[in-house]
Amino acid sequence: MLTGPAMPDGQTTNGAAKRPFDLAAIRADFPILATEIYGKRLAFLDSAASAQKPRSVIDSDVKLYETSYANIHRGVYKFSQDATEAYEQARLKVQAFMGAASHREIIFVRGATEGINLVAQSWGRANLKAGDEIILTELEHHSNIVPWQMVAEEKGAVIKVVPVLDDGSVDHQAYLDLLGPNTKIAAFAHISNAIGTELPVKAMVKAAHDVGALTLVDGCQAAPHIPIDMADLDADFYVFSGHKTYGPTGIGVLYGKQALLDAMPPWQGGGDMIETVSFAGTTYNDLPHKFEAGTPHIAGGIGLGAALDYLTSFDWEDITAHEADLMAYAKEQLSQINSLKIIGAETERKAVISLVMAEAHPHDIGTILDRAGVAVRAGHHCAQPVMDRFSIPGTARVSFGLYNGRDDVDQLVLGLEKVREFFG
Ligand code: ALA
Repeated sequence: MLTGPAMPDGQTTNGAAKRPFDLAAIRADFPILATEIYGKRLAFLDSAASAQKPRSVIDSDVKLYETSYANIHRGVYKFSQDATEAYEQARLKVQAFMGAASHREIIFVRGATEGINLVAQSWGRANLKAGDEIILTELEHHSNIVPWQMVAEEKGAVIKVVPVLDDGSVDHQAYLDLLGPNTKIAAFAHISNAIGTELPVKAMVKAAHDVGALTLVDGCQAAPHIPIDMADLDADFYVFSGHKTYGPTGIGVLYGKQALLDAMPPWQGGGDMIETVSFAGTTYNDLPHKFEAGTPHIAGGIGLGAALDYLTSFDWEDITAHEADLMAYAKEQLSQINSLKIIGAETERKAVISLVMAEAHPHDIGTILDRAGVAVRAGHHCAQPVMDRFSIPGTARVSFGLYNGRDDVDQLVLGLEKVREFFG
C-alpha cells in the first residue's frame, strides 16, 4: 500500500504547474463541446446532473485499457502492479484534493449515493436505536433522505427536518433548535443540487459536534466548484461523485474520519475486504479496503484521479471568480424576463439557477431550450421536498461548469424568449 501526506493546499494533484484560466483553451479540452445540436452550437448548462469530460480523462481510460489493464491488489505480474499503483495513486490524489489526514479515510464507492448508503447501513445500523434523532434539511437530494429513512425505520430512529426559508436558505436557528441530546447525526448538502443554496457547513458541523452528534456532508455540488478541505470543515463523513467533478461515472468518494471508519462494521462482504476467511470465522482487511468488496471500478478510480489533476490545474480563485461572474451575468439577464422567477434568488448560491416561468411547465421550457441548442435539466431534480416547499412541480435548472461562458447565457436567454413567444 502506498502512503503519502496530503499535498499542500493549492497545488495540483499531479504536481504539475498551474494553468491560466483561458476559456477558449478550456473548451478545447472538452471534445463534446464542439458538437452541434440541431445545427446549433451546444450550450451545455446541465453540469449539476453530470459534467462533461476533458480529453485527459477520456485518454486515461483508453491508455489504461490499451497499455496496462489488469485486476488490482491481486496480481504479482507487472500489469497488475502498474494498475494497482495507478489506482492507489488516484486515492492519494483524492486525499490531497480533500485535505484528508490519511489515504485510509478515502473509500472509493460508486458515487455519493452509495457513500451515504454505506454510512447509513454500516454506521447507522450499528449505532442508532429507538428514539435517536437524525437531522436532515428540506433541500436534500433524495439520496440524502431515503437511506436515512430506511435505517430510521429499521432502528426506530426519528428524522427531523430543518425548514428552508423563502429566500432559499436553510433556517439556521431552526437547525440549532433541533439539535439536542438525542441527535446522533446531521446530514446536509454543501450546495443544493436543486436550487443552488450554499449551506454554512462549517458552522453546521460545529453546532452538531457541540451536542455530541456526527455530521455527513453531501458535497456533490461543491467538489467541482469550491475547495473542500476536511481539516477545515471537520465533517465526520463527506461524499462526492466523480462524474460531476469532470470524472467518469460509477466512481465516487466517501471520506470518513479514520477512527469512525475503523469502528464501523463492513457493509458489503467479498474479495479484497477480508484478511482471512474460514468457515470458522472471517477477519477483515484494514482501511480503506474493509469497505471496498469485490473488483472495484479500476478505470473509474484512475479516471477520477485524472479529473482531479485537471480541476486542480486551475487556481480555485480563477474558477470561483469565473463562475461568480457567470451567476451574476445570468441573474441580470434573466431579470429582464418578467414572467421568470428564480427560486431562492436572494440567498448565497453557487453554479445553479433554478427557474420557473408563469406561462410554461419546466418540461416545456427544457424541450424548447433543447431545440435552441441549450441543455438544461427540467423536473424535480431528485429533491421533491424542496419543490413541495415552494409549491412547484419542478423547475428548469441551469447549472454551470468551468467551460461555460456568457455566450451560453445569451443563448439561454434567446431560448427563453422562444418559450415566451410560444406560450405567451
Ligand atoms: N443529482 C443529479 C442532479 O442534480 C443527477 O441532476
